[in-house]
Amino acid sequence: MPTKAALAHIPGPPALPLIGHTLTIVKDSYGTQQDYIRRYGPVYKTNMLGVWRVNLCGADAMELVLLDRKELFSSEGGWDALKRIYPGGLLLQDFDHHRANRRIMQAAFRASAIRDYRLRMTGAMADLLESWPNGEPFCFYKAVKDLTLRLGGAVFMGLPLDGPLARQVNRAIQDEIRASLAVIRHPIPLTPMWRGVRGRHFLRETFRKLIPERRAQGGDDFFSQMCLARDEDGRGWDEDQILDQFNLLIMAAHDTTATALTVMIEALASHPDWQDRLADEVAGLGDGPLDEDALAKMTQTNNVFREALRLVPPVPFIPRQATRDFHWRGFDIPAGTSLALNPGVTMLSPEHFTSPTTFDPDRFTPERAEDQSHKFAWTPFGGGAHKCIGMHFSTLQVKLFVATLLRKRRVQLAAAAPEWQRMPIPKPKGGLPILLSPA
Ligand code: HEM
Repeated sequence: MPTKAALAHIPGPPALPLIGHTLTIVKDSYGTQQDYIRRYGPVYKTNMLGVWRVNLCGADAMELVLLDRKELFSSEGGWDALKRIYPGGLLLQDFDHHRANRRIMQAAFRASAIRDYRLRMTGAMADLLESWPNGEPFCFYKAVKDLTLRLGGAVFMGLPLDGPLARQVNRAIQDEIRASLAVIRHPIPLTPMWRGVRGRHFLRETFRKLIPERRAQGGDDFFSQMCLARDEDGRGWDEDQILDQFNLLIMAAHDTTATALTVMIEALASHPDWQDRLADEVAGLGDGPLDEDALAKMTQTNNVFREALRLVPPVPFIPRQATRDFHWRGFDIPAGTSLALNPGVTMLSPEHFTSPTTFDPDRFTPERAEDQSHKFAWTPFGGGAHKCIGMHFSTLQVKLFVATLLRKRRVQLAAAAPEWQRMPIPKPKGGLPILLSPA
């Protein structure tokens, strides 16, 4: 990694000893970054917890780094902080090695597999939503995280919704996620990293035992599909590869979808006109099954989802590491430099979106198509080789959720709309208390 001196020519705000810009950025991540862009331009350096990063800002930077035509940008090096808990997952792989593994993973995302996941998810989603009370305030964020985790047990792992194993597995997943965000990076007993390492061990050993059975019998859940996954040349994974890829997959799927649903529900509760529009859209589907044809008709719901992802992207920053020296916008950037892309800030730029802080899902209609102003203006799922492989699955999950909820209920806020913490992962302060009522 280059020293501070090697980055001396890159502009940036003065840094405090040890903590650098950490506190300022955590306190108001977007405001601070917008201010730095105004002061220093699209290339500037910051220091988070002792690590110097060069920020490359705007849609052109996203295009350069994510398309990565010259194999200049390593995702493995960028996501270094995930290495202890999620080694061997797609995000922690680069170039040919990554492409070969992504081809195998693709088998678990083919259309017929996604149809089976949807069938498995439909009933479970209805049962879980049924347990949410009418007329009694509760915190949506906590409830939806619990829902997606329990649903994940069924859809990702083929486990029953409840029961001791599902609960242990869910606890271990949460311990892993907390560890990946922990400030103390060594597994000192009782720290989040220690719990995360323990969680990883538990998950590996639990799922390792299931592999022979799933290989023999298959199943309509992600884990079974990954046990059987083969690329077009018939290449699959050994046990350790399945376990590593699966471990990263459940992390990548979990908080992201829960966050998007939280932003959507806050928006629907705050904009009753939009809630009515989506309720009408859902009513227009009739009482039949929520199959591919029905979900494809939910175009307004899709636009609300896209707008939620624009306003509060669940992955607010994308890290990479330079594999070689390169030059961009007048600056020489040395090999080994940690780089940060900030899609959330680009998606709030008036250069691409009118009144960018306003909730306005119609900006995605074909007539306005503001997201098309630049190929990389709207990038909540990233782009290029590492573009989110779960994008279609998460869209399906979100549509199923909205249809199942609005068929029976209406939602309102039970407190003032929350402020959002943006870093390290977005969260509504106060958890978004809501009130449900019968439709
Ligand atoms: C709203 C929901 C989601 C959002 C916003 C989201 C966002 C992202 C982003 C930005 C990346 C690229 C990161 C990078 O380039 O460094 C990514 C990668 C990934 N996502 Fe998602 N994701 C979501 C849901 C899901 C779901 C549901 C799954 C699994 C079913 C999933 C699995 C993955 C995997 C495995 C990768 C790594 C792909 C690779 O490296 O080739 N994601 N996601």
